[in-house]
Amino acid sequence: MMKSMQIAIDGPASAGKSTIAKILANDLDYVYVDTGAMYRVVTLAALQAGIDPNDEQAVTDLLPNVKITFKPGTPTQHVYLNGQEVTEAIRSDEVARNVSAVASYAAVRSTMTELQREIASNAGVVMDGRDIGTTVLPHADVKIFLIASVQERAERRYKENQAKGIDTDTTLAELTQAIEQRDYLDSHREISPLKKADDAVELDTTGLSIDEVVDRAKAIIADKA
Ligand code: DC
Repeated sequence: MMKSMQIAIDGPASAGKSTIAKILANDLDYVYVDTGAMYRVVTLAALQAGIDPNDEQAVTDLLPNVKITFKPGTPTQHVYLNGQEVTEAIRSDEVARNVSAVASYAAVRSTMTELQREIASNAGVVMDGRDIGTTVLPHADVKIFLIASVQERAERRYKENQAKGIDTDTTLAELTQAIEQRDYLDSHREISPLKKADDAVELDTTGLSIDEVVDRAKAIIADKA
């Protein structure tokens, strides 16, 4: 049998990372880890506590009181903050607007990185994020950098919002701007910015169906196995 691998999937916002990572994890019988969800939980915890997400010290002080847990589920895994389900709450516009600031803090990043490495040490994983191939799992067996045009990413997010009935008032233009803003902040932060690892394989999903992207990702994995 093939040994359990670490598969890192990085890329900008809404490039399809979680959709693809979930399918791969399911097909390989690996654990799926959505690291963006972790940064979103910390952001939600700050907002719920009435803390300004731009106040690094206050967010840092809150960290010992943030316990993040996941439970597998289809189609989405369930996410908990101190035992309370926050699966939907972490997808709000307010969390999305503030998460890049929270994810730029050193203490937040080191705490999340430690947790992510711990999860990856126990089983085969497909982990998606921004810095998995560069920082969290620099020795991952497979590294895929997923990209897509900003127009297509905004359209995908728009359709997803309409289908889920969340933030249905947000226009396509607003979503495009929010995605561009988040990409900029994520790529320009000091610690572990969004960046393709030197040994990652870039996969452009613009114009491809989910099945096509999964097939290409599987070919990349087979090549490294
Ligand atoms: O993938 P996502 O949109 O749920 O991620 C939310 C934010 O979390 C993203 O804007 C940047 C941050 N993030 C990060 O800094 N490092 C990761 N490994 C994953 C996400």
